[in-house]
Amino acid sequence: MKNLHEQDRKYILNTYKREKLVIEKAEGSYLYDIDGNKYLDMYSGISVNNLGHDKKIVEAMVGQASKYIHLSNYFVSEPVVSLAKLLAENSFASKVFFTNSGTESNEAAIKLCRKYGKQFSENKHELLSAYNSFHGRTNGSLAITGQEKYQNSFSPLIPGVRYFEYNNIESLKDAANENTCALFLEIIQGEGGIVEISQKFIDEAVRLSTEYNFLIVIDEVQTGMGRTGDLFAYEKYNFSPDIVTISKSLGGGIPLGAVLVSEKSEEVLTVGDHGSTFGGNPVSCACGLYVLESIVNTNLLEEVRQKGAFLIKKLNSLKENYPNIIKDVRGRGLMIGIDVKNHVNRIKELAQAKNILLNSTADTIIRLIPPLSISQDEINQFLDIFEEIILQCNNQ
Ligand SMILES: Cc1ncc(COP(=O)(O)O)c(C=O)c1O
Repeated sequence: MKNLHEQDRKYILNTYKREKLVIEKAEGSYLYDIDGNKYLDMYSGISVNNLGHDKKIVEAMVGQASKYIHLSNYFVSEPVVSLAKLLAENSFASKVFFTNSGTESNEAAIKLCRKYGKQFSENKHELLSAYNSFHGRTNGSLAITGQEKYQNSFSPLIPGVRYFEYNNIESLKDAANENTCALFLEIIQGEGGIVEISQKFIDEAVRLSTEYNFLIVIDEVQTGMGRTGDLFAYEKYNFSPDIVTISKSLGGGIPLGAVLVSEKSEEVLTVGDHGSTFGGNPVSCACGLYVLESIVNTNLLEEVRQKGAFLIKKLNSLKENYPNIIKDVRGRGLMIGIDVKNHVNRIKELAQAKNILLNSTADTIIRLIPPLSISQDEINQFLDIFEEIILQCNNQ
């Protein structure tokens, strides 16, 4: 189609800032535009294409689609059950509910937690959520997204949410009470700028959850499925969540999300309480099964830990050499934030001109979320070019 951007503006609601590039195909860690230019993809469709642009996902998709594409949740389906089983075997969870996205996973978790609370008292419906968190853009998940810039135009949001300062124990204590039914938390705030939770904060959250009998919901929509070097980021901490929400990379690029639920609350939702026409679609789950097997049956997680540690070490050396440009480097595995203050847009522009696609978040952070399958050569290529760009910014 000619003038794709023009037609896009004409026919699609203006809710997204589009890149100028028009991508024609993708393979491995690279995207190719319509003029044949090749770009190293350092953001994997915002942490979705964790296995890179892997053609084997197409085989999983076609394999299932050739049997049947959709039946409805009135029917059991092999890939759906197999994926749930593999998720449970590789986590704290005893049961799974499938959705189509991150926001839907959090919506389902909110409903489960509110019903959990109501078993004890009519008023036990309060949700705790951190300032600067991100949990999605539908009404419930937006209400627990502690950022006014996303919420302001859409009030009133669902009531009964109390906010606390991330990593601030006193603030959490002030927010929690006997009416709390759940605490929602990201282990690493992604949209909030790659900020990691402390073990001390988790310890206090666990203590309060016992004192007041509420559920701890960990949002791993961005951190999950190997992104941080563990299958789930919570595994690095000494506790077991009640619920984990996931999506993004779970379906390898096909819409899929899930709510992982521990034994404690697996009986809360019953027939008719919640549902989704497409949630747990057989084709999505066949792709999810391929993705999860590729993580748990290979050395991928160890490789992510090594590649992440290498990248962070090299970026910290760059920070020492260019303190005017790089203020901070943080993160874990292949979820890395580089605080470059007001140089973000310039760095992204220069990178694109040198065939690297970079993502940013929280105004000042370059967020590196490459495919987990990125090779050492590709990482070296990125580091060489990134250093050239930082030098260029430093000399301007
Ligand atoms: C931590 C977290 N939770 C939830 C969401 C919402 O996911 P979705 O865009 O699939 O609704 C996101 C999206 O960026 C996220 O990063």
